Amino acid sequence: SGLVVAMDGPSGSGKSSASRGVARALGLRYLDTGAMYRAVTWWMLQRGVDLADAATIAARAGEPALTVGTDPDSPGIAVDGADVSGPIRGSEVTGAVSAVSAVPEVRRRLVDLQREIIAAALPSGGIVVEGRDIGTVVAPDAPVKVYLTASAEARAVRRTAELAGTTVEAQRAAMARRDALDSTRTIDPLAKAADAVELDTTPLDLDEVIAEVLRLVKE
Ligand code: C5P
Repeated sequence: SGLVVAMDGPSGSGKSSASRGVARALGLRYLDTGAMYRAVTWWMLQRGVDLADAATIAARAGEPALTVGTDPDSPGIAVDGADVSGPIRGSEVTGAVSAVSAVPEVRRRLVDLQREIIAAALPSGGIVVEGRDIGTVVAPDAPVKVYLTASAEARAVRRTAELAGTTVEAQRAAMARRDALDSTRTIDPLAKAADAVELDTTPLDLDEVIAEVLRLVKE
């Protein structure tokens, strides 16, 4: 029937690299739900939608057509047929995504789409799904749930290494701001599922995080 591994946690916790590594090791598909919120945000910015106008974001939430890749080696994402894998990582989208992901209609639509992608992956063995609300909302029945954390310093250092032209201090501030915005909403995507295993990645390198998750899968 297929395995679902839920990997939740804030940005910089090492979620993406670990999730892809686990999917690769187990021959599973991989879904980056953050990329989906980023892609819808990119579309809203392209259309000039005012980010303070939640009613318009809600009304147009169904318009962008997403094509979401699930190959852990190259998980591309397209909106209305155009690849947006690069632009969705830019600072414009990163600064706007919390406002878009806070709109319930956006969440409802993307959660539905995520469940469809998960169901489609089950016959081939399963899928590793990374995000904020996978263990709590998207796949509450997932047999393996991991909640990754890391110190604010470690998270900022990792993000700074991934991005050009930024500093650890600037990243620490930007991440604290995004966490705060992500936490003040009806559906709290930073809430840890009661049955998730918390894994503090601060002292671990990538291979150690992957090994720990693989150990949880085998339990
Ligand atoms: O994981 P990533 O940092 O790419 O996620 C970008 C944003 O998408 C988060 O800051 C959050 O606002 C939103 N998000 C969410 N629920 C998810 C995944 C991401 O609300 N499952």
